[in-house]
Amino acid sequence: MIRKTILALSLAASGAAFAQVSVTIDAARPGPVISKNIYGQFAEHLGTGIYEGMWVGTDSKIPNTRGWRNDVVGALKDMHVPLVRWPGGCFADEYHWRDGIGPRDKRPVKVNTNWGGVEENNAVGTHEFFDLAEMLGAEVYVNGNLGTGSAKEMAEWVEYMTSDSKSTLADLRRKNGRDKPWKVDYFAVGNEAWGCGGEMTPEYYTQQYKTVTTFLKAPRDNRPRFIASGGNDHDTKWTDNLSQVKNHISGISFHYYTIPTGKWDKKGAATGFGEDQWISTVKNTLVMDDFIRNNVAVMDKNDPQKKIGFFVDEWGTWYDVEPGTNSGFLYQQNSLRDAVVAALNFNIFHAHAERVRMTNIAQMVNVLQAMILTDKDKMLLTPTYHAYKMYVPFQDAASLPLSISNNGAYSVGSTTVPQVSASAAKGKDGKIYVALVNTNPNKAVDVTVNLSGAKGGKLNGQVLTASAMDAHNTFAKPDAVKPAAFNATATGGKLVVKLPAKSVVVGAVE
Ligand code: AHR
Repeated sequence: MIRKTILALSLAASGAAFAQVSVTIDAARPGPVISKNIYGQFAEHLGTGIYEGMWVGTDSKIPNTRGWRNDVVGALKDMHVPLVRWPGGCFADEYHWRDGIGPRDKRPVKVNTNWGGVEENNAVGTHEFFDLAEMLGAEVYVNGNLGTGSAKEMAEWVEYMTSDSKSTLADLRRKNGRDKPWKVDYFAVGNEAWGCGGEMTPEYYTQQYKTVTTFLKAPRDNRPRFIASGGNDHDTKWTDNLSQVKNHISGISFHYYTIPTGKWDKKGAATGFGEDQWISTVKNTLVMDDFIRNNVAVMDKNDPQKKIGFFVDEWGTWYDVEPGTNSGFLYQQNSLRDAVVAALNFNIFHAHAERVRMTNIAQMVNVLQAMILTDKDKMLLTPTYHAYKMYVPFQDAASLPLSISNNGAYSVGSTTVPQVSASAAKGKDGKIYVALVNTNPNKAVDVTVNLSGAKGGKLNGQVLTASAMDAHNTFAKPDAVKPAAFNATATGGKLVVKLPAKSVVVGAVE
C-alpha cells in the first residue's frame, strides 16, 4: 500500500500523466444556474482600452457606428458579451459624469491621473457607453464615484439615467438625445475603497455605502442593483462587514489578478517565459478558489438566505507591460497561457455559481488580459477571446455536480498543480456541456468522462492548443492560435477524451 502511494506520488512529481483521469458528471441533479454575467467584461478609461481600441469617433476613416469601431463591436457581439462594467476601475473615483454629456466639442478635457497622465477629452460619456451596450445587447454595470464624488452626484447620475419624469435632469437627458430612460442593471458605490478609491477601512467604507445607497433613488420598476466595493486578498473583513448590510445591496465585489511571480515590481513577461512561470501562473490562478471559498463561508454566516452575490468584478493576468509601451497603459500580449488561465477561472466560477453571479475580466480591449488587441485599423482576437467564445454554452446553463478522481499532478521543481480541471452544465438548449483543461504543457492525458443520468456516447466540440506555451496572435499572423474541431467517441461504452498538452476543450456530450 505504502509502495503504491509512493509510486503514485513519484509519478505525479515527475509530471507524468496518470493512465486515466476520471470525470464523473451527475446529469440528473442540476445545480445553481451559471449566470451569463460570469462572462462579463470591463472597459475602463485606461490606455487604448476605450479610445482607439473601441472608440474612434464619428470622423474616423476606420469604419464605425456613431464612433464605435465596427470590427471590434462585431467581434464582441460574436462572443456574446453579456455585461460591461464602466468607466473604471480607479478611473471611476475621479470621474464626474457631467463632464461626459452634451456636445462632445464642449466637454472638458481632464488629466487621467491614474493612467499615464494623458488627456481625457470625455468623448465617451454616458450616452456613448449606453449606445455601445445596446449594440452589444449587453447589460450595464456603471461604477459610481465615491472617492472624489458625493452621494448627491451619484444620486443625480442615477436620476439622469433612470428617470421617466419631467425632472430637469431627465429633460437634460432628453435634450442630449435620449428620450426613454436607460436600464442600469448594476451600480457600484466606489471602486477598491481599500486603495485607489480612498484608502478606507472596511468599517468606514461600509458606513459610507449605507449612507450613499439610502439616497440612490430610482423609479421602483427601474432600480439598479447596488454593488459594494469589497476586498482583494485573504482578509475577509470587507466581506464580513458588507455582508451584514441589510438594505440596498446585491453584491460585494472582489478583485484578484494573476501575477506569474506574485510580485508587483517584477510581474513577469506576457510571452517568452519559461516553464517555471507557466506553472506559477497556473498555481496563482487556482488561488481564486480559496478566495471565493473563504469569502463565501463568511457570507453564509451573515447572509444565510444568499441574497448577496460575490462578484469578482476584476480578474485576469497582469504582466510587465510590453517593452516600449506607456507603462500607464497596461498593454500586454495574450498567449495560450492566458486562455488556460481564463478557462481555469471559468471552471472555478461555475463551481461557486450560487454566490458568484457576476465576474468581469480586466479588460475588454488592449488592456491587461484583453479579448481584442488593435493597432490603428487592424484588430486581432486573442486566445482569451477564443476561450470566452468556446464557453458561451455555459452562459445561463445549469451547473452539474462533477467529481474528478485519479487526477494527475503536474510539477516543476517544488511547485505542483492538478493536471486536469473540469466543469459541466446543462445548457439552455438541453445539451450537456463539458469543459476540460490540461495544465501540463508537456503531456497529453486521457480523461474518461462518466455521465450518469444521460447518454454519453460522444463529445463534439472544440480544442484550443498550440505547440508553444506562449503561442500568440500577432497582426502579421492573427490566426496562429485559434480553436479547432474536436471529437471523441465512446468505445466499449467508455468515453475517453484525449486531452492534448496545454489545452482547453469544450464540447457537448451526446
Ligand atoms: O484594471 C486595472 C486597475 O486595477 C483598475 O483600475 C483598478 O480597480 C485595479 O487596481
